[in-house]
Amino acid sequence: MLEIKEMVSGYNKIPVLNLSELFVGAKSFTGVLGRNGMGKTTLLRTIMGELPAWQGRIALNGIDITGYQAHQRAVAGIGFVPQGRQIFPQLTVEENLRMGCVKHFSRAGQIIEQMLECFPRLKRLLAQPGGALSGGEQQLLALARCLCGQPQLVLLDEPTEGIQPNICEEIIETLRRLRHEMDISIILVEQDIEFLYALSDQIHVIEKGQIVQKIDPKTQSSASVAEQFLGFHV
Ligand SMILES: Nc1ncnc2c1ncn2[C@@H]1O[C@H](COP(=O)(O)OP(=O)(O)OP(=O)(O)O)[C@@H](O)[C@H]1O
Ligand SMILES: [Mg+2]
Repeated sequence: MLEIKEMVSGYNKIPVLNLSELFVGAKSFTGVLGRNGMGKTTLLRTIMGELPAWQGRIALNGIDITGYQAHQRAVAGIGFVPQGRQIFPQLTVEENLRMGCVKHFSRAGQIIEQMLECFPRLKRLLAQPGGALSGGEQQLLALARCLCGQPQLVLLDEPTEGIQPNICEEIIETLRRLRHEMDISIILVEQDIEFLYALSDQIHVIEKGQIVQKIDPKTQSSASVAEQFLGFHV
């Protein structure tokens, strides 16, 4: 459903991302593993159109979206949950979810109700300001808010960063359930290899803005991958 060829982007005329190709299939979960500063966020921001690609081609469901701005890509079906969540801290959980429904405002009530079935923990927090939630709860809210836009492709940037292990488990369970219940693909950027292994059909390793290895989590152990690419034993 997503097809990228020869995509280059960066900051202040310095190239950071140099992607020869990336394919994401329909209803698939694609992991991207890489250490700090390797270009993971740059990759997602370029796919979202927040950062202009200097060259290359990007297509979503066979439609060339290379010239689309970020809001046009959102309309076309790409949703982004940025690193650090970026929920609205002053707004309540319910208001945050409503903000996610801007594309489908007339159906906001129904969409939020459906979302709360997938994110039961958010139900009792609806009247709380977003800023009063724990890091993990904010991550669940950011994901739920993104899904309120009913994207086909979700870009998820380091959802486990600074989060308690029990909420990581809950995020894994939630994403597994969404996979069955919704017609979505996810690009999942992480440094937590076990999280990626729990969810990904394929994992791409990114180093210095390039994909240096494609891993099938069914045939290669997470320990060997961590040792080879992250430089530690798990
Ligand atoms: N706004 C920016 N302006 C200039 N350089 C940037 C900017 N954002 C990122 N970079 C640089 O681009 C490179 C890749 O950064 P990026 O944020 O994509 O890495 P990352 O893999 O997401 O790292 P992390 O795991 O720490 O989030 C780094 O060298 C970083 O310093
Ligand atoms: Mg990052």
